[in-house]
Amino acid sequence: MDNAIMSAASLHRTLPALPGQHSRPVFRSKTRLVRCSNERQVLFDRIAPVYDNLNDLLTVGQHRIWKRMAISWSGAKKGDNVLDVCCGTGDLAFLLSDKVGPTGKVVGLDFSKEQLLIASSRQHSQSKTCYENIKWIEGNAIDLPFPESSFDAVTIGYGLRNVVDRLKVLEEVCRVLKPGSKVSALDFNKSTNPFSTSFQEWMIDYVVVPAADIYGLANEYRYLKRSINEFLTGKELERLALNAGFSSAKHFETGGGLMGNLVAVR
Ligand SMILES: C[S@@+](CC[C@H](N)C(=O)[O-])C[C@H]1O[C@@H](n2cnc3c(N)ncnc32)[C@H](O)[C@@H]1O
Repeated sequence: MDNAIMSAASLHRTLPALPGQHSRPVFRSKTRLVRCSNERQVLFDRIAPVYDNLNDLLTVGQHRIWKRMAISWSGAKKGDNVLDVCCGTGDLAFLLSDKVGPTGKVVGLDFSKEQLLIASSRQHSQSKTCYENIKWIEGNAIDLPFPESSFDAVTIGYGLRNVVDRLKVLEEVCRVLKPGSKVSALDFNKSTNPFSTSFQEWMIDYVVVPAADIYGLANEYRYLKRSINEFLTGKELERLALNAGFSSAKHFETGGGLMGNLVAVR
């Protein structure tokens, strides 16, 4: 039995292992998860198998640098108890695990079972002992299943843009952070510079969607442009974080203005 994976409410059964793989956890939630963002959940389940490959392809590996910057902004350090919200296949959780080391603890939370299954199998296919400090939890970012003041740092990678109620998510993150601790949220930057916006849209239309089309996922990636249009600018994100209860908030542009990182202190 894989004891590194749980649902917010507790789950457990194990499928037979695929050839060359460890046993695969099946998620059985005893309580109903909040399903208001069902369509997005289905979308992330569907793109899970190609998500990592496409990230590498589309950013020419640059997303790894932006993710390392996000970890550094979170202030996570050796021995900390940290949370990665909307963890997907686990990139930020693995980086956090390196950062906090074997004496620390990492929780990766996501509502997509398929993304979590890949995160779990990545964890088991790597021999790093510190990765044993990661637990994967199936749960919803708008209702975090943790007590107040549980974590020394929280990260969110490309998640805030995708949740239905951003204020609620930031309120929840603020609640579970210890006073004085930080959230670091990396995402696409909704730029106020028309040149950056046009370049970003061109990249999506002529690079991202055609690349996703190779995997039969063009429609799924067309959603990206709309989601950035509907996202918040850096200043708006800073205001939202303050409204959610954080004591200070600062947004940084990275990746030549294509990406942005909100850092807020509880
Ligand atoms: C674009 S992926 C990012 C994955 C990963 N953090 C990364 O940086 O590669 C967004 C993730 O957010 C998750 N997600 C979206 N809304 C969520 C919610 N309300 N609760 C939990 N996870 C959510 C999706 O399932 C998906 O795995």
